[in-house]
Formats: sequence, C-alpha cells, structure tokens
Amino acid sequence: MKPDTNVGDVDDFYSQAVAYIAKLNPPLPENLEAIRNFGIKNKVPIIDDELGFFLKFVCSIFNPGRILEIGCGISYSTHWMLYGSSESKITALDSNRYRLDQCRKYLQLSENVHRVQLVHNWAKDFFEGNSQQFDLIFLDSTKKEYIDLLDDCYLALVKNGLLIVDNIFYNRKIFGLTPDQKKKYGKSTQLLETFNQKIANHPNFSCTFLPMSDGVLVAKRTN
Ligand SMILES: C[S@@+](CC[C@H](N)C(=O)[O-])C[C@H]1O[C@@H](n2cnc3c(N)ncnc32)[C@H](O)[C@@H]1O
Repeated sequence: MKPDTNVGDVDDFYSQAVAYIAKLNPPLPENLEAIRNFGIKNKVPIIDDELGFFLKFVCSIFNPGRILEIGCGISYSTHWMLYGSSESKITALDSNRYRLDQCRKYLQLSENVHRVQLVHNWAKDFFEGNSQQFDLIFLDSTKKEYIDLLDDCYLALVKNGLLIVDNIFYNRKIFGLTPDQKKKYGKSTQLLETFNQKIANHPNFSCTFLPMSDGVLVAKRTN
C-alpha cells in the first residue's frame, strides 16, 4: 500500500533531493557564483541551479547553434547555456535596461560578450521584426504572457528545435489559489494554465513536463 502523502512530505523529499544532488554536482565556476550572489543580494530573479545544470547538459548534448533567450535578466541562465556548448551563439532579450546592462557587464567579465547579441526589447515587439530561426528557445519572461508568445516561439524554432520554459507551476499557484491569491493572481494563473494545456495538446510539439525547480517544460517542434 502506498503511504499517504501530504505537502509536508513532498517538500521534505524535494529539498532533500536538491540538497543531495547539489553535493554531487561540481562547485560553480567563480563568475556564475558572482552572478548568483548578486541576484540573491539584490532580489533579482535568476533560475535555480538545478535548472542551470539541466540547461548546460541539454546544450552540451544538443549543441544548439543559435539560441534565443527571452528574459535573460542579469545573465545567470545565459551563462549556464554558454558553458554547455562552446558552439552556441545567443540572442538574449530583456525589456529591463538596467538588467541588460548588468548582463553585459557579466558577459564582459567572463569574456563571452562576443557570443551574445543583447537586445533591449519586449518579446512581442522582437518577434514582430524577427525573421531568424533558432535551434533552442529558453523562455523565462512574464508568465502570463507565455500564451501570447507560443505561436511566435513555434514559428521561430527550426524543425526539431527545442523550447524550454521555466516556471510552469507559477510558484505552485497552478495547483490552486487561496481566496486572496485568486484576486491578485487568478487571471495570470488561468493564462499560464491555458499555455500549459495548449502546448501539451499542440499537434506540432512533443512535450515533457519536468517537476524540477518551479516546473520546467521541454517541448520539441516536430513539424
Ligand atoms: C525571471 S527573470 C529572468 C532570469 C534569467 N533567466 C536568469 O536566470 O538570470 C525574467 C526577466 O524577463 C524580463 N521580461 C519580462 N517580461 C518580458 C517581456 N515581455 N519581454 C522581454 N523581457 C521580459 C524581465 O525584465 C526579467 O528580467
């Protein structure tokens, strides 16, 4: 018989697993550590390390020549992908000029600035003028806008290209909302749920949903 599971057990299991795996992983390179510390100190959102290791691994086996990153922030995820494959070039997009300046600074420090084209723009506006195609798109911008960007991401991916999306659990809000949360996040949670459902049933994507970090989607364009 399966034991009863409650949220406490699950939390316990997940944090134990993350802590255990963190000890197995190699220490972070110095510049990644510096970016992470800056993010934590200044409350700037960055991806979790387990997703960082995953992105690095995917880039190392998939060797995406051209990557589009939507929501590069201060470059934590950018650096993880750059470390994964020395052949990849990244178009890194963010609507926040301050974060993009910080991103450039860290790319200069790690001597990777020549591999990244930084774009200060809104994702939707970028796609309007875009004719490039990408082998991998990493989507980590405003969660309620994912649904609006789905068709654009599809069109900008080559066949067999990968779309990787962070925060598909929306910090657990996708599992249910308290009455207070409903007022504040009801609409955005619904929009993210629509995105998850639409891509799960998309005829031209093959998806895998991973219960890692805040929920990660990996979708391959099949057609
Ligand atoms: C979660 S943070 C990204 C963290 C980053 N991936 C990292 O690990 O360092 C989300 C970023 O997306 C940017 N953003 C949000 N909505 C956007 C949009 N519609 N177009 C472009 N950038 C957007 C924000 O300015 C913010 O820097």
